[in-house]
Amino acid sequence: MRQALRRAVVPALAVTLLLSGCAAGGSGDAAIDEDALVVYNAQHEELTQEWADAFTEETGIEVVLRNGDDSELGNQLVQEGAASKADVFLTENSPAMSLVEESGLFAPVGEETLELVPEQYRPTSGAWTGIAARSTVLVYNPELISEAELPASLMDLRNPEWKGRWGAAPAKADFQAIVSAVLETQGEDGARAWLEGMAENAVEYRNNIVTMKAVNAGEVPVGIIYHYYWYRDQDAAAEDSGNTKLHYFGDQDPGAFVSVSGGGVLKNAKHPDEAQQFLAFLAGEEGQRILGEGYSFEYPVASGVPAKAELPPLDSLDAPVIDPSSLNGPKVIELMTEAGLL
Ligand SMILES: [Fe+2]
Repeated sequence: MRQALRRAVVPALAVTLLLSGCAAGGSGDAAIDEDALVVYNAQHEELTQEWADAFTEETGIEVVLRNGDDSELGNQLVQEGAASKADVFLTENSPAMSLVEESGLFAPVGEETLELVPEQYRPTSGAWTGIAARSTVLVYNPELISEAELPASLMDLRNPEWKGRWGAAPAKADFQAIVSAVLETQGEDGARAWLEGMAENAVEYRNNIVTMKAVNAGEVPVGIIYHYYWYRDQDAAAEDSGNTKLHYFGDQDPGAFVSVSGGGVLKNAKHPDEAQQFLAFLAGEEGQRILGEGYSFEYPVASGVPAKAELPPLDSLDAPVIDPSSLNGPKVIELMTEAGLL
């Protein structure tokens, strides 16, 4: 536990430095317009900035982003409680949304927004909604491993034959969301056993991109990442992925987990109407088009907006069926810490 806490401090500091280094006009609260909508943002910053700019242009409502990662901002919201300045919370993955939901800090999402989002991409509670989705994939280097030798299941990677032969980024919220799907589908004992195998076998990298680069460079034959890092690189010069291919586990395997990025309005929001308006914008046609047509390569989930043509359709991935509210982030951190992965 002590180790987990120490880790949590590092990203917070990094974000502070980043903000003070890059933010125009200062990032202190004194500089913020009282009328501005405050978004605690753990989605990719470029994407949310695009959303914010388009929303401001359409409505005249100013948006201020506080950037951080999923669990850092989720924990911050829980700690701040009613005193938080946050109006909206956006994440990359569901577990941090569940954390805030369980703390009773969300206001119900407006009906008009929920109607835009098919049921499988939002929690049954209606406390928040999906705004994007991403698929777990296995990236592999065909020079090092044939298609026939690929694991049939993500769960196989705990077995001894995979020692030193797969890469992942356990410290990142993206990977931790995948572990939350392992926990949800395999139960606590199954997840613990898998994580122990992972601690034995996996080569740890800093993030998804570094994992993909390692596979590309032949350091390890396979890696577990989210799909969009690969497609973005392919769409550019394929410098970090040119020697690799993607394998989709399908078959409702935990390795076929589709993670839902969430958006929610805080119960104590100072600007509740504008916050609901922003969420409706994200789930609406324009917000989903910005996601679907831009550089992001994540999947739109609402308003019938299609994903990029290069991507296999979301409903063809045969992902395990999981209520995103059920994903247990704190338990995942505990189990990963226990296994020595954090
Ligand atoms: Fe990501």
